This record gives sequence, structure tokens and C-alpha cells, in this order.
Amino acid sequence: MINAHFKLILKQQRSDFMQAATPGQPLAGGQRGFIVNTIGNGCFQCISFGVATSTHPATASGSANHLNGIIGLELPNKDLYKRLSKGNERLTERRLMKKLTLFGCAVAGAALMGASPVMAAAGASRGVVAVTAQLPLAPGLAGIPVLEIKADQVKAKSSPILYGLMTEEINYSYDGGLYAEQLRNRNFKEAPRGGGGRRGQPGTDTGAPQRATVPYWSLVQTGGGTGAMELDASQPLNEAVTRSLKLTVESVGANQHVGVANEGFWGIGVRPSTQYRATVWAKGGNGFTGPLTLALVSTDGKTVYAQAQIVRISDNFQMYEATLQTAASVPTTKDATFQVWVGSKGTAWFGFVSLFPPTFKNRPNGLRPDIMQMFVDMKARFLRFPGGNYLEGSDLANRWNWKATLGDVSQRPGHMSPWGYWSSDGLGMLEYLEWCEDVDNMEPVMGIYSGYSLGRQTAAAGEELKPFVQDALDQIEYTTGDASTKWGAQRAKNGHPAPFKLHFVEIGNEENRGPAYEARYVQFLDAIRARYPDIKVISSVAEAPKIGNTTPDVQDDHHYMSPPGMLGMWNKYDSYDRKNSPQVFLGEWATRLNNGSSPLTPNLEYGLCDGVAAIQFERNSDLIPMQCYAPLLVNVNPGGSQWTCNLIGYDVLNCYGGASYHVLKIFSNYRGNTILAAEVQNSPTREIPMRGPGIQATDPRMRTVPRFYYDATRESASGTIYLKVVNPTDAPLPVHVKITGVTTIEPTGQIGEVKGIDPVELNTITEREKIVSTVSKAEGLGTDFIRTFSPYSANVLILKGK
Ligand code: AHR
Repeated sequence: MINAHFKLILKQQRSDFMQAATPGQPLAGGQRGFIVNTIGNGCFQCISFGVATSTHPATASGSANHLNGIIGLELPNKDLYKRLSKGNERLTERRLMKKLTLFGCAVAGAALMGASPVMAAAGASRGVVAVTAQLPLAPGLAGIPVLEIKADQVKAKSSPILYGLMTEEINYSYDGGLYAEQLRNRNFKEAPRGGGGRRGQPGTDTGAPQRATVPYWSLVQTGGGTGAMELDASQPLNEAVTRSLKLTVESVGANQHVGVANEGFWGIGVRPSTQYRATVWAKGGNGFTGPLTLALVSTDGKTVYAQAQIVRISDNFQMYEATLQTAASVPTTKDATFQVWVGSKGTAWFGFVSLFPPTFKNRPNGLRPDIMQMFVDMKARFLRFPGGNYLEGSDLANRWNWKATLGDVSQRPGHMSPWGYWSSDGLGMLEYLEWCEDVDNMEPVMGIYSGYSLGRQTAAAGEELKPFVQDALDQIEYTTGDASTKWGAQRAKNGHPAPFKLHFVEIGNEENRGPAYEARYVQFLDAIRARYPDIKVISSVAEAPKIGNTTPDVQDDHHYMSPPGMLGMWNKYDSYDRKNSPQVFLGEWATRLNNGSSPLTPNLEYGLCDGVAAIQFERNSDLIPMQCYAPLLVNVNPGGSQWTCNLIGYDVLNCYGGASYHVLKIFSNYRGNTILAAEVQNSPTREIPMRGPGIQATDPRMRTVPRFYYDATRESASGTIYLKVVNPTDAPLPVHVKITGVTTIEPTGQIGEVKGIDPVELNTITEREKIVSTVSKAEGLGTDFIRTFSPYSANVLILKGK
């Protein structure tokens, strides 16, 4: 016998509820229960308990995958639905059941057939029947996988900081991304052509428009006013900013403008009723003493969205600040420039010009609220920074030198990112730590420059390495020392008197340099252990349980895998040698193809493969304390990316999560603190083509992988069990779930899902919510029940147990 719960929806006129069927909104007419309606194009509308649950409004060309709540009745695709419904025909229950059975939804059909008497008893002629019934195991159920969760067998504790973030300056992650600064090349240091090569190679910044003089700045002359602009190395702002922008105004009158304009990072984000904080380092000469007008102007120059004036400026560089306030009537647009107009004849020099919209938690020099909120929503528990290759730099001079990222932003020199573009270092050491603090105080996992850069400049262990080891100790003191320490005092001076927590540092990035790394790692390790014995020192050599004779505290494994590759390693860590291996940090991983053909942000297929990876990491989180997808961020504008498959995409106005973001978000939000023993019988398998390094697309070899992937965790205080299941196939997946070692499981729980109908479906900057996660009521649960998981879905079943 099984405890089967299902709902049938019958003979409902779509006109009864169409007008009220907006996701999340109550229905008109007080209907309750599930209603499945045909939409003209052969899609479903799903309504749950008087509230529309479909992510697709009835009128949109939505997907067929939101037909939930009927046991086993998740139709694999639109085509099947079309064949079932033949267009707009309304189905009777008996015909629906017959067709389902005919079309191979054996479980659903069988269960529904079994339920007919109950339905009849309920006397439903129209609308909804929701039934929980003890049914004999129907013939169609034989052979489905049986998943046993042993709630009284705790395998291990699950790491509380398992889900985190990995970040570096790649894909305009900070400048043009998370860092809220709107102006590009704010201190005029960017070369007309990008000078830095990617990952140590010589090259040019192909994303940057080639300009003769000052990248991202242009001269404004309107209404007949005239002037000229040029870089002026003879008038540096300070030692770090070794030039300025000189504007000579020849003539300017009423209704004329002469000035300079900045185009931002693929536009400037203008919103109504918003305050922008502008900062300008400037001085005047040749008779010019003011005013300066700062303005947000449409790119066609016709509309001024906001402006402010600095009445007088001196003939020495000084900082001026102004607030620009947009009116409620201003449109939301990125079609804008920031302009500085000089009010009379003469010369003005600009050393640094900056514009900030409101930031997350209103931090000065802060971060974008919308993207930060995504980290909070994901319940990220740590941040690995600053890389990645960005830590190493293309060469020694362009490594991430944390000391050059401190203090007043107008004094930070900036440097070339190994990803081929300029980094302002406005998001520097302190900002990383504040980022951690602001996302529910997540753990910093701090990268230490190891003496190795991508251009293969290496400081040898011993004397040569000593200054770098000292830098590392200073870096830790800056983070954790109180204000009585030298570097703690520096942090206090920079605006953060309270020390930060720090439990993990990592030496270098992806270093597989044999004995050279071993000697450097050990030198860092000894120095750090001597002063900070509680800090774990991560080795950046993957799958190396020993570094020389030393067992590192933690090793950092990276996995970038094709979809079959990721599915193929679904159980890699299950049998890992826990006795002889350090703990494993999955510091970078993602499903992607390294031939450039993957999308900028993961599609549904990649998201589900990433879900399989995350399930494995969760199941093994006694071994794996932390894991983070990489890269985290991508600016989706043309030329804004150097890497495909990134977790979060954005332009200057909007951001969105790739499919993997939604899977990781729901997985991170719903999990317990203990890992339960769970095993499956009758586990179905399938053959998938092998892919991976050295394997051609034409290679006929196949590998056998499970049809579905699972893990179970339990929150010990509440008794809630979280069953995660990924079904990456195109067929519904019925699973017979048995839970032992509990007294009861409540019949009603919740189901969190990310699903779709087409593996290549993906979110984009214009369609940001095609794939999202939803949480809804799940019924028919117990200690023995059948649940059918949708095709192409990642699920968390939330079971309330005692
Ligand atoms: O995540 C992108 C890059 O991949 C990282 O910078 C590097 O560590 C890895 O090779």
C-alpha cells in the first residue's frame, strides 16, 4: 500500500478565472484547489488554493511544466500535452486518465485509475478533487525507484558554511558591475588601448572602443560654445594619479555648454527619485574660478535628468562634492552620460570624477544593492576573494597588491587585471571585508599572493619570498588585529575600527608548480601558523593530499566540466579517502564547455548539472566544508565578458541569476545541519555520451549515469528533513520514498523547485525570470509515499517530521 495524494482538475472553463490568473494573486470567484486550464497555444495555467502559482501568466506563451499537484502528472513537454489535449479540447477525467496511461505516464495513470472510486464519492462534477487515499500498489508502480531515508542514521554534520561565493575582477565584476561607481576611467589612467594581456599574454582590450585620446571621455560643445580637452601629465593629481584631464574653454555663453562627458560602463543607470553623489577633484586656471555644473544628460544631449552646481573652485586640486537628485518623472534609463560643464572661459583640470547612486546599506564607496541582495537571498556563507587569476596578476607589478587598494579612492593607483582591462581597485581590501560583513557576516576566505604571477615571475622560497610573507602577515593583521596593532590601526583609520573574523586563507591560486610551490607554501604556512594558529591555510594545489611532507589544512579542488562530465563525477567524493586527505574546498567549479560555446550564464541543462554537483558536495560536506561556483559575475554587454557560464549577469540597470543561481539558492536555503543515510533501490540509469578533455564530440563511447540524484539532510532541532532530487532527464521521475527512523511525517510539507521544459532555456538580461525557483505546498507526504519529480527539475522536498 502506498499513501497517494493527487488532485484532478476537470471541466473548468478558462473564462472563469483567466482575468485573475496573475501569479501570486488570489483568484476571482473564490475558487480553491488546483485548476489546470488549457491555454490556446497548448500550455498550462496552474492555480493552487485560490492563488495563481504559474510563473507564466495565462496570457503569455508560458510553459507546460507548471502542471504540478497531480501525482505523476508532470507532462514532459508541450508536444505530449498537445497530443493529449488535441488543441483546446476540454478533457474529462476518464479521458485524461486514459490518455495519460496510453501515453506512458504509467504511474499517474495507474494512481488515478485507482482513485476513481474516491473521486466519485467526492461527487465532483467540475472543478477540483484533492484526495489522499491508501491505494494498493498499482501495477504501474512496480519497478520505480525506492528511496529510503534513514532519519535515525546521521552520517555526519553538514558544514554550516557550505554554500559561498568566489569572486575576482573578471567580466567587469567590480568596475562596471558590483562596485556601484558609475563612471569609467574616473582618474584618466586607462590607456587608449587596453594594455594588459589576458592571463599573462600580451594583448589589447578588445571590449574597449578604441579612442584616440581619453577612453570613455568626450568633449561637450553645444550651442556654439568651443573648447578642447587633453590628458595633462604635467598636472598630476597625486602620486598615484599621475595625470589629469585638462579642459580649455575658448568661448561659452548663455544656452551653450562646454565640458567633458563620461559614458559610464555601457551607459549610466538613471532612475527616478534617486540621489547621486558626485565627487570631483578639480582646479581652475587662466581666469576660470567656477562655476562647474555636474549633470546627468541623455546621450542625445536633449534631456537633463538632474544637475548640481559647484559655485567656485580654487587653483589647487581640491575635492568638491554635490548631490544630483532626479525627479519622480525621470524615466529609468541607461541611455545617459555624466557631464561636467565649465561656466566661463579659462582652463579646468580634473584629477578624479566619480558618481555613486545609493549603495547597499548606504556604504560610502559601496556596492550595488540589487546584486548584493542576490547574495543575501542565496544565503551565501563565505566569500573567496580576490581570485582566481586576478590574485596572481599577469606579472608581479599587476598582482593583487592589497596595500595599494586601501584608503581614499582618489589615491588608489589601480592596476591592469589579467583579464585584459583596467581595475580601479575601488573595490579593495576593506571593501571585500565589508562585503562579507554586509551579507550576513559571511566568512572571508582570503587569497594570499604566493609569489607567483601568471607571466611566470616567481619569488623563490627563502629570502626572496620574505617580503611577500610579511605582506601576508600584515594582511591578516589588517583583517583581524585590533586598533593597537599597526595594521589594525590602519583599518580603523580607513573607517572600520572593529576587527573582522578570519578563519581561512589560501596561498596562491591553482598552483601546480611542484617543489617550487611546496617550498613557498610551507614558508607561508610556518609563518602564519606561528602567529595565527587558528587560521586554516588552504593549499591551492588540487587533489594533492601532501605538499612536500606537509598535509595542508585544506586543499582547493577546481572543476570546470562539460554537462556529461559533471554528471559523470556525481559520486567522486563519496568514496574519497577521508583518512589520508585534507578537507576539500571546492573553490571553483561550474558546468561549462571550454570551447566558448556555452552561454554567458548557465541554461537549464547546466543549472541541473550544477545541481547534481551541489548535491554531491552537500552529501559529502563532512569532507567538503565549502564550495563556490565560479565565476560569480558577468557584465552581459558586448565586450563585457571574458568567460562563459557565470552565476549572475547584469547591465548597469538590472541583474539576474542564471539557472544555476536559482538551483544553488534554493539548495542553500533549504538544508539541515546533519547528513542522513539514504539509499536507493531500482535506481534507473541511462547512457550519456562521454565528453571531457581529449574526447572528441564524435567519440562513440558512452558512460552510464543515474537518471536522478539525491541527498537528504535533517535539521536536528526541528526534525525537518530536506530531500533534494535532481532529475536532469526529459521524463517525469516517480520515486517511492520511504522514511525510516521517524515517528511521523506530516502529510503536508513544501516543495522547492527549479524546472523548465527545454534544457537550453535560459534567463537573459531582457528575460530575467524564465527560470526561477518556486516554493509551494506539497501534499500526500508521509513515511511512505510516491512523489513524481518534473522533467528537467531540481527539487527540495521539505518534510516535517518528528
Ligand atoms: O574562474 C575563472 C578562472 O578559472 C580563474 O581565475 C582561475 O583560477 C581558473 O583557471
